[in-house]
Amino acid sequence: MTVYLNGEFLPKDQARIAPDDRAFLFADGAYEVLRAYRGHLFRAREHWDRFDYSLKALRIASPANTDFASIASELLKRNNLADAEATVYLQVSRGAAPRKHAFPADATPTVYAFAAPFANPVEKWASGVKVITVPDQRWARCDIKSVSLLPNVLANQQAQEAGAHEAVLVRDGFALEGSLSNFAVVLDGVLHTAPRSNYILPGISRLVALGLCSALDIPVKEFPVAEADLKCAAEAMLFGTTNEVMPVVQINERKVGEGQPGPLTRKLQQAFRDYVGECQRRG
Ligand code: PDD
Repeated sequence: MTVYLNGEFLPKDQARIAPDDRAFLFADGAYEVLRAYRGHLFRAREHWDRFDYSLKALRIASPANTDFASIASELLKRNNLADAEATVYLQVSRGAAPRKHAFPADATPTVYAFAAPFANPVEKWASGVKVITVPDQRWARCDIKSVSLLPNVLANQQAQEAGAHEAVLVRDGFALEGSLSNFAVVLDGVLHTAPRSNYILPGISRLVALGLCSALDIPVKEFPVAEADLKCAAEAMLFGTTNEVMPVVQINERKVGEGQPGPLTRKLQQAFRDYVGECQRRG
C-alpha cells in the first residue's frame, strides 16, 4: 500500500511519524474522508471547503504546496483504485514539537493520506439497520472535523457490542447525529433532521440528501429531533460518506414503523444512488 506523508508517496511500512506529533499526543488535527466512485471523488469541493474550515477553526496553517485533490487522485492511481470503489482519508496535524499544550512556535503541519478499497454495504442498504441511542459526550465544536474522536469511538463500540450499525448521539433530549453519520426521521410525512449548529458535523451526504429531497418534493424540517419523538417516527435513516442513505429499521429495542425501510427512505436512497451514477458519468 502506498500512502502520502509530508510531500512524499511511499510504502506504508516506510512512513514514519514523530512520537511527539501533536496528533499523537493531543489529537491536535483535522481530517476528511471522501468516497471515490471508480476514480470520481464525490462532492470533492465541499470536502476541501470543510477541511479548510476545520483547519482554520483549529488555527492550523494550511500546509504550503499541498493540493489535496491531486494527492487523492494520485493515491487512487498508485493503489490500483482509480477504477474501483474506494475511500480516501486525509489528515493534517499541527505537527511535531516537544509536548506543551499551547501551540508550538515553529511546527510544520504533518500531512498524511491514504486510499483504501471500499465495499458498498449493499445488504444493509437492502435490509436496513439497527441503531442505539447513547448520551452525546462530545465537546461543543462538533462542527469541526477534528481527529479527537474518543466519544465517537466509545459510542460506536457500544453500538457494535449491541449488534447495532450506529450509535445515535443524544444531547439534552435531542437525537443529533450518529458517531460517524447524520441522522433523520420521518414524522407526519416530513423528514426531520437536526439543524446545522456547533453540535453536529455539517455532513456532505446530508447536504446532498436534503438537495434531493427538495428535487423530489419531500418536505424537510431542519429541526431538533426530540428523543421522545423517536417512538413516533414512521421511518429513520442515516446519511454519510460510507452510508449514503442508510435505512434505519430499529432504534434500541423498538421497530421503526413496520420494521422495514420506509417508502420515503427508499425513494431518497435510490435518488442518491442515481445521483452518484450521474456524477461518475460527468467525471
Ligand atoms: N464521518 N457526523 C459525523 C460525526 C461524522 O463523523 C460524519 C462522517 C458524518 C457524515 O458526514 P459526511 O456525509 O460528510 O461523510 C456526520 C466519516 C465518514 C468518518 O469519520 O469516517
